[in-house]
Amino acid sequence: MPNIIIAGAQWGDEGKGKIVDLLAERVQVVARYNGGHNAGHTVIVGDRRFILHLIPSGILHDGVLCLMGNGMVIDPWALEREIAELREAGITIDGNLRISDRAHLILPHHREIETLTEELRGARSIGTTLRGIGPAYEDKIGRRGLRMGDLVRPAALADKLTEARRHYELILRGAGREPMIDWDALVKDLAGFGDRLGSRITDVARTLHVEMARGYSALFEGAQATMLDVDFGSYPYVTSSSAIAAGAATGLGVPLTRIDAIVGILKAYTTRVGGGPFPTTMGGELEEEIRRQGGEFGASTGRPRRCGWFDAVIARHAVRVNGFDFLALMKLDVLDALAEIRICTAYRCEGETLDEMPADPALFERCEPVYENIPGWQSATVGIRKYADLPEAARRYIERISELIGAEIGIISTGPDRSQTIVREQFSLASWFAG
Ligand code: GDP
Ligand code: IMO
Ligand code: MG
Repeated sequence: MPNIIIAGAQWGDEGKGKIVDLLAERVQVVARYNGGHNAGHTVIVGDRRFILHLIPSGILHDGVLCLMGNGMVIDPWALEREIAELREAGITIDGNLRISDRAHLILPHHREIETLTEELRGARSIGTTLRGIGPAYEDKIGRRGLRMGDLVRPAALADKLTEARRHYELILRGAGREPMIDWDALVKDLAGFGDRLGSRITDVARTLHVEMARGYSALFEGAQATMLDVDFGSYPYVTSSSAIAAGAATGLGVPLTRIDAIVGILKAYTTRVGGGPFPTTMGGELEEEIRRQGGEFGASTGRPRRCGWFDAVIARHAVRVNGFDFLALMKLDVLDALAEIRICTAYRCEGETLDEMPADPALFERCEPVYENIPGWQSATVGIRKYADLPEAARRYIERISELIGAEIGIISTGPDRSQTIVREQFSLASWFAG
């Protein structure tokens, strides 16, 4: 098996967890490259459901080494909770989980600042997960962040926190608020995390190089997705990390020359949690029906996801900026009942037809979808495992999407379980994925 990046092509929640889990049995290493516990990656195994937030989705496979990369931001309280929950469910977590010493910490003041700035934005709030993700990345770029490695250097911790405190109090006082953090207690808490997590904190980039030098192959798991990427997403309604495939290189220290393939995860329709433009919103009862059918509620926050028709404009953009070798089309079965299905092929904006998503958020807000209608198949595709067994109209839908986005669709998912998956025999990389 080659080294493969798995990245989301829309606004997240495409089903990355399922595909990472599916491919994890064929690799020795699964490494996450961005984000924090804003992510929720669901893996269904038989009648058991796991939702991973920080820990790579390969953790359910024995013998797979799971790495958390320097591109991540880690709330140590959330990490310990997740480890405890997985252990309670019978999952082994010992030497199989390692954390980059360069990954940045999310601390309580990050959450507080985020709540404040979201409030200040009022109607223009981003609709973040309020987990402190943005402020933690701000501190990283602002060169005042604390890193996982600092947890095991208690002497330096107090000094670094003093600097963080100065910045935080400046912001809070500017907003007329009184600081509420007990910094002495925080130093003690963090030293405790150092004691308990210390043996996992290491130079993950080096670990990865050593494993690859042994001939082991790796999956690089992205969180969030292209439209939430801080550079190429629907800015400013994005997350604060590099979610596109290129983020794997900077978020793990894996050289570009060691990446063999890039797989995009694409839902057969579109969803979005949080604020910002979403041109293909279905609206009305249909949206509610798709939300119900697809279980479209946030895996992290439980918020209802907005649901929309497939948007080929953003999917084309995703194909281009990620360079997907092929895509996995997820949740086809959710569309089974529809008599007619719409695909957005372009936008109409101020009298012009646009083939591309505009970078200007004000313009993107005004974009109206141009639709093409495709007949539905109105029969069950749930659990179908061979492409030829799909109804003809479903195959036409898939082929039309592939044509519009200019990329191959090699995997089709027909249900949440590992087994409910089609790997197309004729697709160019099939031999890598066949059982
Ligand atoms: P991720 O964040 O990209 O890993 O995706 P989430 O886990 O947030 O959301 C995807 C949801 O769809 C989960 O509840 C999955 O169990 C579910 N799912 C994945 N693939 C399929 C599929 O092909 N059909 C259906 N009906 N559900 C799926
Ligand atoms: P997975 O990995 C869907 C969204 C939030 C908000 C914006 C910024 O499961 O696909 P943040 O807390 O990151 O600063 O919020 O990004 N968001 C996600 N939406 N899936 C996710 O992760 C998301 N992670 C963040 O809803 O709109
Ligand atoms: Mg998710």
